[in-house]
Amino acid sequence: MHPWCLKRYQLSEEIPQSYYNPLFFHRKKSPHPHIHPSGNLKFFPSRLHLLILFPPHCPQSPATTLHWPHLALYLSIRDEKPPVFQNIPDETGALMKKKFGLKIGRNELCPCGSGKKYKKCCALKKGTPDPENVEAYYKKKYGIRLKKAEDIEKIRRAGDLVVETHERVKALIKPGVSSDEINDFVHEFTINHGAKPAPLNYRGYPKSVCLSVNDVICHGIPGSWALEDGDIVNVDITSILGGYYADANQTHYVGTPSKEAIKVVEVARESLKQGLLAVRPGNTIGDIGHAIQSYAEAQGCSVVRDFIGHGVGYEFHEDPQVPHFGRKGHGIPLVPGMVFTIEPMINLGGPELYILEDKWTAVTSDGSLSAQFEETIVVTPEGFESLTPLGL
Ligand code: MF3
Ligand code: CO
Ligand code: CO
Repeated sequence: MHPWCLKRYQLSEEIPQSYYNPLFFHRKKSPHPHIHPSGNLKFFPSRLHLLILFPPHCPQSPATTLHWPHLALYLSIRDEKPPVFQNIPDETGALMKKKFGLKIGRNELCPCGSGKKYKKCCALKKGTPDPENVEAYYKKKYGIRLKKAEDIEKIRRAGDLVVETHERVKALIKPGVSSDEINDFVHEFTINHGAKPAPLNYRGYPKSVCLSVNDVICHGIPGSWALEDGDIVNVDITSILGGYYADANQTHYVGTPSKEAIKVVEVARESLKQGLLAVRPGNTIGDIGHAIQSYAEAQGCSVVRDFIGHGVGYEFHEDPQVPHFGRKGHGIPLVPGMVFTIEPMINLGGPELYILEDKWTAVTSDGSLSAQFEETIVVTPEGFESLTPLGL
């Protein structure tokens, strides 16, 4: 899925102070749900620019047009003319974070425009989470819903089905088999086991599984096209069983692989293993990304930045975001009960990608091969347990 993405809008005129307050929404805590049904946009107005933090979109890039009317609506409710906005080209969340500072300093002026310091204003209203209560703290501070033993058991069941589906699909992989046949198999097998294929109709995705061949990084759409000898194909399966999601993918060789195919697939497989080894309480999300990035890059491969791992279980994509690159000790500390995927996408060439006209298929810009492996895991007191053990 896409990471959170920050966009900057240059204003042609200052936003009057009176606009500020309602423009400052805390994610999922919007005081104006009628304006923000999604409730998860974050606005950072200042004198001459407006930063908007968009929720993860999969796979489309932030849909400005989708969310923009909410702001316009607000302004029209106030019976004021909206200022003229000029969209500044996309930049990644990380870059914008660095440039503009996502965090509001406690001594800075509150973005609500009250004129008070942030710590004396909205920081108080948000309430201070109690670090003693880990569950409430993770929910409030990071938006992460920690899973209880009963939840984990349900996700494990969904995971067992995902793994079984993978095993059956593996037996079907051979030159000449059409991608639609694989899709239909996954669909039927999932339904026959009382589950639902999560991809089908997810944000408009038209099929029940993602099949990504060769230079396709992810979200390849099954169709009449067939597998060919020498291809590598990633099969990404997510099932919803008893209301719980499990998500896993792996890349297979079709027929006889080339040297390059073996290289990228084995580096991707080992990248996931390296990421998993970094999962234990006390380590951070950044440690996972660091382990993957340093391994894959040392092998001369690159790590895709535009799609990342994600919390999973109650929903397809939840917090936290799990980048496959990062710095040691940075990011959210791992605690037992966190359930998320690690799903490094590794390219033989550069990390850049573009999305095809179908709005889903992501391919490497340089046409190089790309491979991926994914498991859903839970952080345990000792380390982690895979809820979709693929036996890499
Ligand atoms: N399974 C993918 C992931 O690992 C998401 C696929 S979204 C879909 O996050 F709509 F293409 F299915
Ligand atoms: Co996933
Ligand atoms: Co997946």
